Amino acid sequence: MSIQYGEKVMEHFLHPRNMGEIPDPDGVGEVGNPVCGDVMKLMIKVEDGRIADIKFQTFGCGAAIATSSMVTELVKGKTLDEAEKISNRAVVEALGGLPPVKLHCSVLAEEALKAAIEDYHRKHQQDKSLNRDTQNLK
Ligand code: FES
Repeated sequence: MSIQYGEKVMEHFLHPRNMGEIPDPDGVGEVGNPVCGDVMKLMIKVEDGRIADIKFQTFGCGAAIATSSMVTELVKGKTLDEAEKISNRAVVEALGGLPPVKLHCSVLAEEALKAAIEDYHRKHQQDKSLNRDTQNLK
């Protein structure tokens, strides 16, 4: 049985946007689906509270690649707060829909994005407390 993908999904699958690696990312989110074994990794660069750059590496199905590509397009230039609110539904809608059996693939995109933002906050908090500690030492 073959799965029918829409035009936009095929377009992002065949010509993914922002695929690759950011050498020194501010946040990294890597998530996997234990059922199918697919893995998605998102890297973000943050400037002035906005996602200045974002790249993905996905080892997965066509829908996982298309949703990775679309989520990077949706969040580039957005503030972290705005980006955090992007759901897998929004990604699916922007792609013009996904076959029901492939909806779970879009969940990876939402989870990877949230994980990358969390990672950024975690590192940022650590930097802040390190600065505080070194200031206290002076
Ligand atoms: Fe695994 Fe699509 S089948 S993410």
